[in-house]
Amino acid sequence: MKKPKLVISTGAGMSAESGISTFRDSGGLWDKYPVMDVASADGFARNPELVHSFYNTRRHELVKAQPNAGHRGLVELEQWYDTYVITQNVDNLHERAGSEHVLHLHGELMKVRSMKHPERVYELSEGNLDTTVDTRDEYGDAVRPHIVFFQEAVPNIEPAIELASEADVFVVIGTSLAVYPAASLLHYVRRGVPVYYIDPNPAPVPDYVTVLRMPATKGVEELVRLLRP
Ligand code: OAD
Repeated sequence: MKKPKLVISTGAGMSAESGISTFRDSGGLWDKYPVMDVASADGFARNPELVHSFYNTRRHELVKAQPNAGHRGLVELEQWYDTYVITQNVDNLHERAGSEHVLHLHGELMKVRSMKHPERVYELSEGNLDTTVDTRDEYGDAVRPHIVFFQEAVPNIEPAIELASEADVFVVIGTSLAVYPAASLLHYVRRGVPVYYIDPNPAPVPDYVTVLRMPATKGVEELVRLLRP
């Protein structure tokens, strides 16, 4: 029998218990770094060195971090559901936990791409995490973080919308729902489809959403209990 389709949309709160800072919580990344300096197209044009350095620091944090019980719990659900993760996170903790289908909306920290030929994307290795304005690819072209900066289009939003509109169960985890178009995915879920939102400090959501007001690790444990056949 065909498995029902479970689509899970995750944000920074998913990785908080792995020790990776969220953005908008107090003490979050955007308190420490002006977002438009380090994560916008204008900021990158103004001061690319600063942007490279910001993402170098994020990479060093990421390789020290481990997937948490929440990431692992979502993999457990693959036994019973055709499961797709759509993530705003640029970390690779879903992949490292073993999730089979992960769609990154805002890019991937462990990748860089050619400035001249954006289709040339390169995976960085753990021993080679730092890039600068002088880093060149094998063709001699400068590279940039493979991150969707503010003011740039979100190339994966179309497949993400398609997944959301096909979901039989939809789950949102650890996002302030402040950034579009990612936040709009909820609106593409068909009427009557069960929707869960795990977040200790959830954003306002419509009444039909079941809110699990708890951290991702505990919330996913509860979700597995609710969704297992
Ligand atoms: P935010 O920092 O805006 O929101 C983090 C959410 O995680 C909040 O709703 C918190 O309540 C929740 N949270 C905190 N700890 C949690 C935990 N242990 N378990 C579950 N939830 C927890 O992060 P995002 O919504 O992911 O984009 O931000 C979206 C985008 O804004 C990011 O992808 C990034 C940022 O600017 C780019 O850099 C392009």
